Amino acid sequence: MGFMHKDILGLQFLTKEEIELLLNTAENLKEINSRDIKKVPTLRGKTIVNLFYEASTRTRTSFEIAAKRLSADTVNISASTSAVQKGETLLDTARNVEAMKPDIIVIRHGISGAPEYLAKRGSYSVINAGDGAHEHPSQGLLDMLTMREKLGSLEGRKVAIVGDITHSRVARSNIYGLTKMGAHIHLAGPPTMMPMGIERLGNVTVCGTIREAVDGADVIMMLRIQQERQGKTLMPSIREYSRYFGLNRDIVKLAKPDVMVMHPGPMNRGVEICSDVADGPNSYILQQVENGVAVRMSMLYHVSGGDLATE
Ligand code: CP
Repeated sequence: MGFMHKDILGLQFLTKEEIELLLNTAENLKEINSRDIKKVPTLRGKTIVNLFYEASTRTRTSFEIAAKRLSADTVNISASTSAVQKGETLLDTARNVEAMKPDIIVIRHGISGAPEYLAKRGSYSVINAGDGAHEHPSQGLLDMLTMREKLGSLEGRKVAIVGDITHSRVARSNIYGLTKMGAHIHLAGPPTMMPMGIERLGNVTVCGTIREAVDGADVIMMLRIQQERQGKTLMPSIREYSRYFGLNRDIVKLAKPDVMVMHPGPMNRGVEICSDVADGPNSYILQQVENGVAVRMSMLYHVSGGDLATE
C-alpha cells in the first residue's frame, strides 16, 4: 500500500494502515541516524521550507535535520524575523514562498486550520508542525513509534494523558492515533482544562484524578499547561496544579512497574513533572526526541511520493 496523501494535516485524516506505514518507514530510516555519514540521496533536488509562526526547539530542528539527512535543501522562515512583522498575511507569505517553487512547506501556526488553508491553495505539499490546539501529527507519530519500540502492539494498552487537554494539540493527535491502534486512553486534568465530550473520540475515559488515570498504565504522558493558549487563568495556583496533577515517584508506582513516562517537551520541571521522574529509569523523553528525526524523515519521504516497498 502506498501513501496517497499530498499533505499530512492530522492523524484524524489518516487510516490505521497509513499510520503504520509512516511508522514502519520511520523504523527503516532510523538506522541512517546512527551511521558515520548520516545522509542518503532520497530527496536530492527537493526544497523544503520550514515556516514557523510559533516558537519551537524540537520540531523545527528535527524537521530540518530530517530533510538534510535525506539530502533535501531546507530554508527556515520564522515569523518573528520575516515580513510577517510588517503585516504580511499568511496567504501572501505562502504565495511568495510558492513563487520560489518549494516542494514541501512545513508549517507551525497558532491558528487551528492554518496548514489546511495553505494545503488547499498551493501546489506544494503541506505538513502540519502544530496548529493551535488542533493537531501535532509528527509528535503523535513519534510518540507512537517510541511506544511501539518498547511495547510492540499498542492494542489494548492503557495510556494515561495528564494535564491541559483542552489546549493540547499533542493530546488530540495522540488520541486520534492511539485509538486507531487499539489503545485505551485515560485522561486526567483540571475540569477547566478538560474539553466537553472528549470521550466521543473513541476509546477515551475521563478520570477524576491522576491516580485513577495512571493506575495500571503502560504509558504516562504528561502535558505542559499551555498558558499561551489560555485566555484567562484556569487554575488557582501552580502549586495546587502540581499537587493534584503533577507526576512524582509515588504516582508512578501506581502504574505498571516498567511504565513508560513520556513528555513532548518543553517540560516545566516541578510543575507537571518532578525532575527525578523526568530523568529517572522510566523516562523515554529523550527517546521521543531521537525518534522525532526518523518520523519526520518518513513524513517528508511519503508526501514526496516515496514508496520503500517498491524501490
Ligand atoms: N514537542 C514540541 O512540539 O516541541 P517544540 O515546541 O520545541 O517543537
